[in-house]
This record gives sequence, structure tokens and C-alpha cells, in this order.
Amino acid sequence: MQPSELIIDRPDEGVFRVHRSSMTSHDLFEQERAKIFDHCWLYVGHESEVQKPGEYRRRTVADRPLIFIRGSDGQIRVLYNSCTHRGASVCQQDEGQATGFTCIYHAWRFNNKGELAGVSDQEGYGDNFNKAALNLKSPPRVEHYRGMYFVNYDSGAESLESYISPVRELIDLTMDSAEVLGGWRILSGTAKYSIKANWKILIENSYDGYHLPSVHQTYIDYLMWRQKKASVQNPNPTGSDARDSSSLKRTRAYATKNGHGGFLYRAEGRAIANPSPLWPEETRREVLRVKSELIAKFGEQRARQMSEVSRTICIFPNFLFQDSQTGFRFRQIWPVAPDMIDVVQWDLVPRNEQQDLFDARMEYSLAFLGPGGLATPDDAEALEQCQRGFAAREVEWSDISRGMKRPAQMNDELQMRSFWRQWHAWLKGDPKNAFTDDIDRGAGNSLLINLEA
Ligand code: FES
Ligand code: FE
Repeated sequence: MQPSELIIDRPDEGVFRVHRSSMTSHDLFEQERAKIFDHCWLYVGHESEVQKPGEYRRRTVADRPLIFIRGSDGQIRVLYNSCTHRGASVCQQDEGQATGFTCIYHAWRFNNKGELAGVSDQEGYGDNFNKAALNLKSPPRVEHYRGMYFVNYDSGAESLESYISPVRELIDLTMDSAEVLGGWRILSGTAKYSIKANWKILIENSYDGYHLPSVHQTYIDYLMWRQKKASVQNPNPTGSDARDSSSLKRTRAYATKNGHGGFLYRAEGRAIANPSPLWPEETRREVLRVKSELIAKFGEQRARQMSEVSRTICIFPNFLFQDSQTGFRFRQIWPVAPDMIDVVQWDLVPRNEQQDLFDARMEYSLAFLGPGGLATPDDAEALEQCQRGFAAREVEWSDISRGMKRPAQMNDELQMRSFWRQWHAWLKGDPKNAFTDDIDRGAGNSLLINLEA
């Protein structure tokens, strides 16, 4: 099947279908690597992970072994973890602090700026040996925005800032919201897990509001039980507009140029800064104090968007920015094989947060989104069932048309169509011309939610 035939997209008729070979084909898997992952901006790390000179994190980004490191000169760099002599890894640990690295193979030594600082038995190389030419190499493009570092293996790619500009408004809301609490830092430690499914089904799942009541009934029951135990009047398990057909109308899904997309919904129980009725009085007071600081600093409208709205953003192709109740996390989804994904996930927390709010974040993160939580294993089961279902090759198409004929809500599928349209455009070699939104076709509408509705 030719790439051009993989998607049927007829907005006027409300028809959107994806051919299931896109989830199983080895040939398409290789094409994705070459045509998408070698040209798009890919997240590497956050500046708070490498605060001290010599601090580093080892990362794998689109199969390339990388070191994300702050040099003794204070500069953050991304280096290939591949000795310029004959290729061995120079960095052996996932994280640490070092003045440099010594290659295990022939003991060449590199400092924490990536410079070749020492060669064992250098005499053997003669007088013209150019050490500077053998410094550790960096990916062709390394750029950062609001503390987030990205690489691009295509030297001709548009700038990171331009690439993410369609969703910058939303990124800034979350990034600014921690300004009154000392800014965000990544919490030490990485959640890692694998799922036997195609990477694109986890992208879809990560911003799919439709599956919440069915797949996550266990978690919803758990929240209900907690609210009843706390004698909450009129319990609302999700504490958000994601509860019934009338409140869901106030939520929205969005899609932008470059294939980014996600959803937005109003919610209580946001540590910054919209308290849950479940929280003790003292905690609620602290959250409202933070909210009033946000209002003083950013004005009422912007502060309300920051604090009352949960935001999920997928930066195409594989980076999830999830500012939800109660936590804020980054998730990356790495294709390993057509039917295997590696997931890596980090939590972010404000530097100066009251302990009980920090604890609430951790509780949410472990109880819901962590690999052993009440949500992720259920999602993994649903995804693996889909992947097994794709073996029924005669059932050729998946339907992703939900919400195509109305202003999209968070339980619609606009954000997924946006992803697929961009995916398709890259495979066809025309990534700048994907239209992403069914209705406004990427006309650049504001991504804010109407808080008066
Ligand atoms: Fe690193 Fe030889 S491969 S010193
Ligand atoms: Fe889920």
C-alpha cells in the first residue's frame, strides 16, 4: 500500500479512517524513523536535571545514545555517547556528576565539555595528531525553550521556537504558573515501562478523553470511595468538567499546525492553584494564596487560565506535556518495533511547594499515572488488545471520526486526527501542508478555554 492510501480524510462527510497496516508494517516503521524521527524536534531533558557543573543524564533519543550535561563552564550540552576513537560508550551511568569520562576500551579521556583531554600512549599518533577534531560530537541542532532541551538530527530543520509556536501559549501558561513558587524542577527518578503495542496508539491514548469512563472505572470508583469517606456533598470523582455530557461541552480538544494537539478542561484539585474540596482547610488556604499571587502577577484572566484549566499537549511526534490534576509530567513514547514501545516519564514539581501539596502530587502520580497505578496498567491492557486485534488483517481500517462535525470536546478525536494528518504528511514528504483542524483548519484561533461558559 502506498503512503498516500493509508488515510481516508473527508471532513465534509465526517469520515476519517486510518489503515491498520500503519500499526503493524515493518516497512512503515522504518519509514517513520527516517522521515519523521530524523527531522522533528525531540525532547532530551530539562535544565533542572543538570544544575551543577558536571551533572549529567544519559538519554536515548531516536536510538541515539546521548549525554545531557552541564560543563564546568556552566554551559549545557548534548553530546553523543560514542567515543570518537572507535565507538564505545564513554558514559556508563544513567546519571551523575563528573569532571569527565574515560572510555572503557582504550582509555581516551574526555572532559565534561566533551573535549578530548587525554589519549593513552599518545606518541603512537605522531606530531600532527589533531585532538580538537576528536572531541565528542553533538547532534546537528540543540535548542531549548523554557528549560526544555530538544535535539533535531536534521541540520536544516526550522527553529524549535518556530516548531512549537502553535502551542507556546499553552506551554507558557504552565511554565509561568510556577514562577511564584520558584519555578519547576524535575523530580529525580524516571518511570520506565514497555507496552506491546504500536507507539501511535499510546499517543492517541495519552490524550483520549473518550476512554476514561470505560477503561478507568476502577480509578473512578476509588475516587468516589474517597469522596464518600470524606463525606463530600455531591461527589464528583474527577473533580472536573469531564463528568457528563453537559459539562463536557465546556471542555475542548484542539489541533494545530505541525501536528501538535491535545485537550483542555476545567478542574478542581490543581495544586497550582485551584483547590479540591477534599483537601484540608489549611491546604485550601495555601492554594488560594498562590492563586492570589498569580492574579497579582499575571492579571485575573491569565491567572484563571493557568490555575483552573488542565492542559495536555502532544508536541509532535512523541512528547507529552501533561499539566493535569494534580501533577505535571513529561512523557516520551519511543517506538522499539512496530508492536513494542518504551515509555519514559518524569514528574515536575515547583521548587517551593508546601509539603502536603507535594504529597498530593505524588499520590496522584503513583495512584493514577505511574506504571503500577490504577490507570496505566488498564491503558496498557487496552492497547495490547488493540495490537492483537490488528492481526485480523481483513479488518483494514480504524475509525477516528468522533467529533468531526462539531466544535471538538475533550472526549472527541480531533487531536488524534491532527497527529495522523501530520504523520501522513511527513510520510508523503510534504510536512508543511497538512491541515490539522476539521473546522477552522488551523486558522490560529486562541487556545484558551471560555471560563464564563
Ligand atoms: Fe574509546 Fe578506543 S573506543 S578509546
Ligand atoms: Fe487512560
